[in-house]
Amino acid sequence: MKFFIDTANLDQIREAQDLGVLDGVTTNPSLMAKEGITGTENVLKHYKAICDIVDDNVSAEVIATDYEGMIKEGEELAKIDPKIVVKIPMIKDGIKAIKYFSNKGIRTNCTLVFSAGQAIIAAKAGATFLSPFIGRIDDMNWDGIDLIHQISNIYSIQGYDTEILAASVRNSLHIVKCAEAGADVVTCPLSAILGLLKHPLTDIGLAQFLADHRKANS
Ligand code: G3P
Repeated sequence: MKFFIDTANLDQIREAQDLGVLDGVTTNPSLMAKEGITGTENVLKHYKAICDIVDDNVSAEVIATDYEGMIKEGEELAKIDPKIVVKIPMIKDGIKAIKYFSNKGIRTNCTLVFSAGQAIIAAKAGATFLSPFIGRIDDMNWDGIDLIHQISNIYSIQGYDTEILAASVRNSLHIVKCAEAGADVVTCPLSAILGLLKHPLTDIGLAQFLADHRKANS
């Protein structure tokens, strides 16, 4: 399973990259706004700065919601760097745009996915990645992980190539559950990745090993 970091914060992206386990980055207009990145030129520059840190897979989201607008913006984003994946919302014109980019060999990430039906049509259109938002489904008292299981099952029965990119992943347990459910990728905050490292028995065990070593060598 690949690990993407879900942020536009360059320090956090660097820290995750330094850990050696990062496969990509996802952003969205809310995450760019959180970093205070505004204006087309600054946004494009920021995407380039992200591409310069990581090895591949930088999702950059279009703002347009009509077909022509998404094509124009997506083509501009794709020109920034070969690492760019054009992120497109799950709407009718978005599906048409995904098909267009798929025919041109430009990678896409279909975002704002909340159902298996949406997952099927995105795969039919040739999306490279599919982003079901599991945390937001949990927020509605449904089970986001169930959706990952269902899509994973459908994609393997149907032989679809689209990768399931579990998004709105908010904690380390979500990551473990996504791995069990068959997600190809998780995108999450740095804290959720670092949380995977933690176990109190590891800390207690290490303290004991070091204390025994000190005693034996004093
Ligand atoms: O990956 C999508 C993500 O940015 C949305 O996360 O926590 O706002 O639902 P959240």
